[in-house]
Amino acid sequence: MKFFIDTANLADIKEAQDLGVLDGVTTNPSLMAKEGITGEENILNHYKAICELVDGDVSAEVISTDFEGMVKEGEALAALNPQIVVKIPMTKEGVKACKYFSTKGIRTNVTLVFSVGQALLAAKAGATYVSPFIGRLDDISTDGLNLIEEIRLVYDNYLYETQILAASVRNTMHIVNCAKIGADVMTGPLSSILGLLKHPLTDSGLAQFLADYAKGNG
Ligand code: E4P
Repeated sequence: MKFFIDTANLADIKEAQDLGVLDGVTTNPSLMAKEGITGEENILNHYKAICELVDGDVSAEVISTDFEGMVKEGEALAALNPQIVVKIPMTKEGVKACKYFSTKGIRTNVTLVFSVGQALLAAKAGATYVSPFIGRLDDISTDGLNLIEEIRLVYDNYLYETQILAASVRNTMHIVNCAKIGADVMTGPLSSILGLLKHPLTDSGLAQFLADYAKGNG
């Protein structure tokens, strides 16, 4: 499973990259705003800075909601760096834009997906990635992981190449469960990735090894 980090924070991105397990980055307008990145030029420069930090795919989201606007914005974003994946909302205009980008060889991430039907449409439009938001479904007492399982079934039935990018991952167990049910990618905050490291038996075992070494070696 690929690991993406879901942030526009350069320090967090660098820390995940330095760990050696990062395959890419996803951002959205809220995450950019959280880092205080505003204005077209600053936003484009920030995407360039992210691309310089990581080796993998960097999802950059369009703001336009009409087809022409999405195409114009998406083409400008894709021209920034070959790592850029154009992130498009799951709307009628978004599906049209996704199809357009797919015929032009521009990679896409269809975002704000909350149903199997939406994921099916994204695959048919040639999306590179589809982003079901599992955390936001959990927030409204709906099983987000179940959606991933259902999309996996449908995509496998027809051998769709669109990759399932489990998004809105909030914690470490989300990552583990996404891996169990065959999500192609997960995107979550740095804390969810670092949480995978933790086990008390690792900590106590290491402490014992070091203590025993110290006894014998002074
Ligand atoms: C997806 O790409 C979004 O950026 C993100 O995963 C949303 O997560 P949230 O529901 O925690 O805001």
